[in-house]
Amino acid sequence: MELSSETRFLHVIEMGLGAWQWGDRIVWQYGHGYSDEEVHQAFQASLEEGVRFVDTAEVYGNGRSERLLGQFLKETDQAVLIATKFFPLPWRFGKGSIPRALKGSLARLAVESVDLYQIHWPTPLISVDTMMEGLAECAKSGMARTVGVSNFEQSRMLAAYSALARHDVVLASNQLHYSLLNRTVERNGTLARCKELGIRLIAYSPLEKGLLTGKYSVEAPPPGSRGRMYTSLLPRIGPLLKLMTEIGQDHGGKSNTQVALNWLIYKGALPIPGAKSAKQARENAGGLGWKLTDEEAAKLDEASDAALES
Ligand SMILES: NC(=O)c1ccc[n+]([C@@H]2O[C@H](COP(=O)([O-])OP(=O)(O)OC[C@H]3O[C@@H](n4cnc5c(N)ncnc54)[C@H](OP(=O)(O)O)[C@@H]3O)[C@@H](O)[C@H]2O)c1
Repeated sequence: MELSSETRFLHVIEMGLGAWQWGDRIVWQYGHGYSDEEVHQAFQASLEEGVRFVDTAEVYGNGRSERLLGQFLKETDQAVLIATKFFPLPWRFGKGSIPRALKGSLARLAVESVDLYQIHWPTPLISVDTMMEGLAECAKSGMARTVGVSNFEQSRMLAAYSALARHDVVLASNQLHYSLLNRTVERNGTLARCKELGIRLIAYSPLEKGLLTGKYSVEAPPPGSRGRMYTSLLPRIGPLLKLMTEIGQDHGGKSNTQVALNWLIYKGALPIPGAKSAKQARENAGGLGWKLTDEEAAKLDEASDAALES
């Protein structure tokens, strides 16, 4: 399908950097083992490695993620592409709440516009039509170069696509959970529909919150709420991790992390791994610049099916 000229840039980006970690204490334990300095280094290392699309949100660290990104942007002369998100808090129901929230994000980021403004989650409190009217206003005012959604299942995504089209605005992206350990978007046809309509599928939690790096196990689960989240999955991922290591070795020693990210690129998604340090950011960038073969991808699909179905 012919991509629209406004959204084409998103289809050229192969990988981004997730910034939920920047200030979040609840899931990521910000301040324990890493803080402002480490995430600044993660940002700088990403740019050095050619990753310059950063995904944040107004709710990450209660605004801290956007504020940190704003500070980091001032210290670089490289062009960075920024994506942020509107969170439908219960007291926000009019279409005007969306451009108002974007103004708040722009102030924290200290920029005049963002490259992508997304609705973080759908809500029963605001209709899709009203939300899209608000997003269209953001695009038309020039505060957002493009607009997208996140966590919209297929029928809602299609409703958003049509509602925006009525305002002559293109739905640029849908940000969804997608990894070797969560293939819902393949199974329910959303990935295929995105490709058909030129909507960029942005894959969040591409490392399954660290599980696919291979550093966690039943004996050494991830800390905090992540450990509880994965109690039933952790015992089942050994064979998949082993296969990922073997495949990585056939590509000159790519790590499990890099195989996990390359598999998403192979599938046509844009992964945005979160990084807490320069080391993690550099390793993640190594998911770029090489290609799994069709046969390897098929083997990974099979091992992922086995982990998910066992
Ligand atoms: N739209 C949404 O609703 C939504 C939801 C979730 C995420 N997101 C976005 O997607 C981004 C990524 O998803 P995510 O943060 O959930 O999970 P992820 O990218 O799957 O995992 C990130 C975590 O894995 C570990 N890690 C990353 N790189 C590593 C490396 N090279 N080696 C070892 N460990 C590494 C780090 O945690 P530890 O070191 O602590 O293990 C890091 O915080 C977020 O930052 C956010 O921008 C969006």
